[in-house]
Amino acid sequence: MTWSDRQRAMLAEMGIRVWAAPAAEPAEPAVAGPITPASTQAAAVAARPSRGAFGEAVAAPPLSRATSPASLVEFVPASADIATLDWPALREAVASCTACALCESRTQTVFGVGHPQAHWMIVGEAPGEEEDRRGEPFVGRSGQLLDNMLRAIGLSRQPGETPDPAKQVFIANTLKCRPPGNRNPLPDELARCEGFLIRQIELVQPKIILAMGRFAVQSLLRSNSPIGQLRGRVHRYQGVPLVVTYHPAYLLRNLPEKARAWDDLCLALDTVEAAAGAHPHDRAGD
Ligand code: URA
Repeated sequence: MTWSDRQRAMLAEMGIRVWAAPAAEPAEPAVAGPITPASTQAAAVAARPSRGAFGEAVAAPPLSRATSPASLVEFVPASADIATLDWPALREAVASCTACALCESRTQTVFGVGHPQAHWMIVGEAPGEEEDRRGEPFVGRSGQLLDNMLRAIGLSRQPGETPDPAKQVFIANTLKCRPPGNRNPLPDELARCEGFLIRQIELVQPKIILAMGRFAVQSLLRSNSPIGQLRGRVHRYQGVPLVVTYHPAYLLRNLPEKARAWDDLCLALDTVEAAAGAHPHDRAGD
């Protein structure tokens, strides 16, 4: 495999240095050290995809509101309603949701962004301060890292020229509202919000899901196992291949783990390409 100068430069920006030729994987990745992806392939830096157009919002069926944290049963009919919504109705349902107390502190909901039929679905945790202000997921520091990582394998959420959904991502969070002070999501909040994410995944029908961080993993895999134990293999969510990886915010605090996150990205890329029947050497940029 050969890495283009541009790919190398982008990875270097992320603190990841790649060798021209693959080498044996070190037992523990060094800080900003060389990486030897499980996949030895790199994709081309693709043209930037266009953002999804969801059309005009229409009135959504009312969400039933649970009256206490213990009354999750009351939320079940709401989830059933959500399961029938199309994109505009789902967007509207999220925007007007009052199912938990986060609606009182949010500036706005953060629905998600990307192509509605993107092959890649990225699932994060919850909006932070900047996301709450701008209404878009992953626009702070961790978002910059995420964008760089995606760009390094030819993916982007940015508006652009390519109509190819294989090069596009849809980014969503487990929670659509910011928890005050960026605290961890509460189980009750996750339970009340998860119908939205489930419906987003149903509508996108991604070829691969990248679950970033423990709350995404808890929601999608119903697992409390540490990320370190779950990463490195392909799981399934409703039949869709799912790769577990570290949350970008964690990567910013733990630089050595970037090498592992890169391996995870390569595993996801290999998985999606194998499913599409692509020969690894067919990838542009090799
Ligand atoms: N972290 C997340 O998980 N999601 C965001 O949208 C921003 C930061």
